[in-house]
Amino acid sequence: MQQRKIGNDLKEQRRESQMEKEKLQELLQDMSLKEKISQMFQLNANFFMDDAVLTGPLQELGIAQEDVNQCGNVLGVYGAKKVKAVIDKQMENQEHHIPPLIMQDVINGYKTIFPIPLAQGCTFNPALIKKGAAISARESAVSGVQLTFAPMVDLVRDSRWGRVMESTGEDKYLNSRFAKAFVEGFQGNDLTDTEHVGACIKHFAGYGLPDAGRDYNNVEVSQRTFMDDMLPAYEAGIKAGAVTVMTSFNTINRIPASGNKWLLRDILRQKMGFKGVLISDWQSIWEMTSQGNAENEKDAARLAVKAGVDIDMMSNCYVKNLEELVLEGTVSEEIIDEAVYRILELKNKLGLFENPYKGADEEKEADIILCNEHRNAAREMAAESFVLLENDGILPLSASDESIAFIGPFANCKEIHGAWSMIASAKDNISIKEAVQDAYPNGTFYFENGCNHIEDGAKISGFGSVVTDFFTPEEEEEAQVRAIEAAAKADKVVMTIGEHRLQSGEAASYGDIKIPSIQMELFRRIYEVNRNIVVVLFNGRPLDIRELKDKSKAILDVWFPGTEGGNAIADVLFGKKSPSGKLSMSFPFCVGQVPIHYDCFSTGRPLSAYKDQPTRFCSQYVDIPNEPLYPFGYGLSYTTFEYSNLAISSDTMTKSEEIMVSVDITNKGDYIAKETVQMYIQDVKGSVVRPVRELKGFQKLALKPEETVTVTFTIDESMLRFYDGDMNYTSEPGLFRVYVGQDSSCKEMVTFTLR
Ligand code: GLC
Repeated sequence: MQQRKIGNDLKEQRRESQMEKEKLQELLQDMSLKEKISQMFQLNANFFMDDAVLTGPLQELGIAQEDVNQCGNVLGVYGAKKVKAVIDKQMENQEHHIPPLIMQDVINGYKTIFPIPLAQGCTFNPALIKKGAAISARESAVSGVQLTFAPMVDLVRDSRWGRVMESTGEDKYLNSRFAKAFVEGFQGNDLTDTEHVGACIKHFAGYGLPDAGRDYNNVEVSQRTFMDDMLPAYEAGIKAGAVTVMTSFNTINRIPASGNKWLLRDILRQKMGFKGVLISDWQSIWEMTSQGNAENEKDAARLAVKAGVDIDMMSNCYVKNLEELVLEGTVSEEIIDEAVYRILELKNKLGLFENPYKGADEEKEADIILCNEHRNAAREMAAESFVLLENDGILPLSASDESIAFIGPFANCKEIHGAWSMIASAKDNISIKEAVQDAYPNGTFYFENGCNHIEDGAKISGFGSVVTDFFTPEEEEEAQVRAIEAAAKADKVVMTIGEHRLQSGEAASYGDIKIPSIQMELFRRIYEVNRNIVVVLFNGRPLDIRELKDKSKAILDVWFPGTEGGNAIADVLFGKKSPSGKLSMSFPFCVGQVPIHYDCFSTGRPLSAYKDQPTRFCSQYVDIPNEPLYPFGYGLSYTTFEYSNLAISSDTMTKSEEIMVSVDITNKGDYIAKETVQMYIQDVKGSVVRPVRELKGFQKLALKPEETVTVTFTIDESMLRFYDGDMNYTSEPGLFRVYVGQDSSCKEMVTFTLR
């Protein structure tokens, strides 16, 4: 591209480094109101190219072409060549040739796809996640992406909601650790460099607990739950330096987030000190009219800009109404200047005034995308994200001593990347069949998909792809028969079943959380001919898997493992790697238990208090247990770990002191394996009721057979704070219990008193 004059020759004065503040102010003052407003909306790729992927409903926006030409923010264009062309065109059209901001949803990978974030949460390994985010940033940056709409850090507790797959789970401490890791991985240490991208903390705020688990629904939580449980992960991402935040679709205190002044100015800007750019979600400003909070698009624009939303994503509210609102005096031009200055500052931080293309580079694109280094990292993370839920000893398998039938719609299937991987191509993924045959060419294996992923007619689609069927209705019975024959003659069966990848993600709420019935019918028929069943579960959310638990000898949850999923599954099934994942979200006994979370409250009639004298009158279900099928933090290994010598350095602590809790861990088995030691604290009595326990620390370590390691946690007063009866964020004196163990149901405990 011919080096364009930017901002009235400002470039000449700033060859080497970013523009200084006063130069940005000069540029801002030199811009017309119309030009300023052109920086405050974002359009999707369908305005700039064919075959664009839509991540929201497409309405006729009626935006004039001259406004499209001036648009300062673009979503969904990717590929170095395409991006450069769009940048050239947008800059050409502008009086000050301000470079557009190129944004994309790079959630768990660009072309090299990592496990879905819910699975990444199961690694309990922030360093690994940071590495994955850096690789995702590298691949997207050379392809022209300058900012990614990730990480999503919404706290989740209801697996009916399809977007639980996009979160790192139900725990605020774990989510906070991962929010930091994602931001650091995406942004690196120098935002102007050509292999990192800006990050976006989303969706602000509270989007993860929609009423009834239905996407885009109202959110009704107490202010204390909102402040104590939901906000910490957003705050952690902002403290890590995320340059943007995205507003959420939901209401908080019955005011839509995109027009919620308390949320955006008092909490985000003032309390959290966020100084970056605030972008709406897809048409979420316009949606305030549907929510009944705005009279019309102009009113919605007024509410949002006064609440402090800088960029209007994919609606016409700002571009068609802000000028009038300013000229009529309803909105001051100072508010516009405030927003536009933040946007110019962000573009400056990304180095776009010196280098509008940022990292876009066709040659690098060809070199690094899907390179072996990236694939190996994806394979490593996938293996660490798998959670072994059951194993009677049938795992690990042997490729030489037994015949194995891989049955089910994932046996020979490349659709194993999560719903938010719209740039990836399934052809780049390694299927279970490819991996197993490649690793064990002399093994005796059978591969039969046996059925389609979902019932005929229950079609789903989205994000640019639809469900591909293996069999026509006429072929289905014969396919099942072939699968049953294979299972009958094999020593063991690996049932590869679960949701289709598009059955989770945005707008994928389900009233029930079951594996498609067509697959369960196949499972039951296989069970009739071979009881040696290992289930490999593909899912974007915790599912009701009671029947699998009853009828199989092992269950390995692999979620949606991404590009190297097949290889990682083979590594774990055949014992090259011991599984080490721990659930980042509770697996409910059934959908009747949701929302469910381990850091719940005792109630006035806890079931546990009546176990010796059962009564009807306590907090329980008549028909199902209170406890989940598998608790948060749970996951088995190919070895067993023995915990011993739990000790605490003192049984009292003042607010200025620290105490240490230590425990010995011994690997009692034959495998080198990783264990995540978890520490939970219970505040026994407070001015408000307190959770029965909360995760306050974890350490993941690899142990050789017979190796013993002492793990130590430090506790200080800041870990004990909460919003007290007067909504002050503080700790309170009293008794605390400290649990250390393998998951959130661990019983080993020591106590201390805060004085
Ligand atoms: C979607 C999602 C949001 C995403 C945005 C742009 O509606 O809610 O997470 O970043 O649109 O694709």
